[in-house]
Amino acid sequence: MNEILQVENLRVEYPGGRLRQPAKIALHGLNLQVTQGEVFGFLGPNGAGKTTTMNVLLGFIPPTSGSAALFGIDVRQPIARQRIGYLPELTYYYKFLTAEELLRFYAKLFGLSRAETDLRIKKLMALVELEHAASRPIKSYSKGMRQRVGLAQALINNPDLLILDEPTSGLDPLGRMKVREIIQRLKDEGKTVFFSSHEMGEVETVCDHVAILHQGELKAAGVVADLVTQYRADNLEQVFLKIVGYQPQEVA
Ligand SMILES: Nc1ncnc2c1ncn2[C@@H]1O[C@H](COP(=O)(O)OP(=O)(O)OP(=O)(O)O)[C@@H](O)[C@H]1O
Ligand SMILES: [Mg+2]
Repeated sequence: MNEILQVENLRVEYPGGRLRQPAKIALHGLNLQVTQGEVFGFLGPNGAGKTTTMNVLLGFIPPTSGSAALFGIDVRQPIARQRIGYLPELTYYYKFLTAEELLRFYAKLFGLSRAETDLRIKKLMALVELEHAASRPIKSYSKGMRQRVGLAQALINNPDLLILDEPTSGLDPLGRMKVREIIQRLKDEGKTVFFSSHEMGEVETVCDHVAILHQGELKAAGVVADLVTQYRADNLEQVFLKIVGYQPQEVA
């Protein structure tokens, strides 16, 4: 198997802060493997540790112990991130720039030539369906449009692995569908996509494998259909609710 993303016994503790609160253990020895060409859904309730895991992969925070690697290279080496694209959970772009100007800025960071930049921007603006708004400032974009600019930004360097932190959060059903189609198209192009989500329906539709994290621990991982059988559930949402210990309450 060709592992593109590998996490081994990853533990992350956040310091307790000035008031000497105990350290917060965000990940307790996490193990994950994502293989080439798959779409991998990373699930878990709020605070489960999804963004923390991605932050380690991106080199934003160091592991307390354990390790993580991209393309077989330890994430402590910046070169591990050369072939990745990343969409953060919260995006802050220069709002006075147009989408095209923003993409040009990111292309420069990656050292793309002028000709390559022009080609990539044309392709990406079409992919995320923003050609009509290419010359408007981002501040005039709706949330869905901003999310699609974010996706185009993540793809500017033509990465082989996409790490997307809740790419469809806050989008309407049409916006979610469009992002889903983009993920599907990326998979068809042979890219690997690792994304977090709270949308079980979307995860069921596009993912080859999923992992469910709860309180910093991996509770389940595999193919959706296998997990549904294993947990005697009807769908992924039920698997998720069983894992997080949800008990339906009688409404008086
Ligand atoms: N910088 C930080 N300092 C201290 N604790 C933190 C920090 N960042 C995250 N945490 C804590 O670590 C745990 C995991 O947070 P994380 O943001 O990774 O969760 P998540 O799965 O991405 O949640 P969500 O679905 O809400 O985005 C939470 O308990 C959170 O409060
Ligand atoms: Mg998060």
